[in-house]
Amino acid sequence: PTALAGRHFLKELDLGEGEFRGLVELAAELKAAKRAGAEIQYLRGRNIALIFEKTSTRTRCAFEVAAADQGARTTYLDPSGSQIGHKESVADTARVLGRMFDAIEYRGDSQAKVEELAARAGVPVYNGLTDDWHPTQMLADVLTMTEHSAKPLTGISFAYLGDARFNMGNSYLVTGALLGMDVRIVAPERYWPAPGIVARARELARSSGAVITLTEDVAEGVRGADFVATDVWVSMGEAKEVWAERIKELAPYAVTMDVLRATGNPDVKFLHCLPAFHDLGTEVGREIHEAYGLTSLEVTDEVFESTHSVVFDEAENRLHTIKAVLVATLGS
Ligand code: CP
Ligand code: NVA
Repeated sequence: PTALAGRHFLKELDLGEGEFRGLVELAAELKAAKRAGAEIQYLRGRNIALIFEKTSTRTRCAFEVAAADQGARTTYLDPSGSQIGHKESVADTARVLGRMFDAIEYRGDSQAKVEELAARAGVPVYNGLTDDWHPTQMLADVLTMTEHSAKPLTGISFAYLGDARFNMGNSYLVTGALLGMDVRIVAPERYWPAPGIVARARELARSSGAVITLTEDVAEGVRGADFVATDVWVSMGEAKEVWAERIKELAPYAVTMDVLRATGNPDVKFLHCLPAFHDLGTEVGREIHEAYGLTSLEVTDEVFESTHSVVFDEAENRLHTIKAVLVATLGS
């Protein structure tokens, strides 16, 4: 279980293809063991700090339950409850927490901060989401894809629709490239991942055999796909003012039943990292509904609630995959 002893997990590209797959396989084993009531604890007596400078439901709960299942303790530092970055530098915080904890999870805006934390802490650091990457989410998505497809990973195709310049779009592109999958980014060109990230993905694809497509055309992008994925159109930390423009530009990329039909695959599955604005039953949702008269955003309620949707398996898999990261990096 300690295949990655002492390692950080700051972005997908920190791992080789075999290491990434190994974590997904370990997660599947840990999931089966928990279900069978046969989980072995590899993390007894460990202490893990969870720093959240942005809010969270799944990631925080997954780290806390994974640690508890494995016999470790966690300390949660909320978006307002620590000195990090405000009253104390990241470097100093890293050196303090590194003296007390065996590992540190960090969620925030800049990738540079989590990288600095890792450089100074002296213990493994995990990225629980930054503006650039959401690596633990990718482990859960890949586990979910393997559970809902009979094909090997290299035979699986998935299309991501929406804003692909942010964490989820970037992460899907490099993960698909790393694992040799057929990955399609379907969005207006200005919402595609940055050229440097696309270049890195193409380079990876040359050795992994991945097929990479970036297209503005929904029908072309989703044709034959095994999975269709999306994410919110406005991410945490972005200003409310961007909603009008996003709705205008991304509305054609909303995941509807027509989009699923356009795959031509009756068994196509729908993925969303969540939270989703599908039923507008949220504070932001109501504001959007009043301002723009929309009844759904990135995904319709019909798709979200359909048998195509595997979003709650995906959410549960955050637990098992984050547990795999902890066990592989810290386990004994
Ligand atoms: N998918 C995800 O990261 O969810 P949270 O923001 O609730 O952690
Ligand atoms: N892109 C979203 C993902 C949330 C898990 C955000 O950053 O808010």
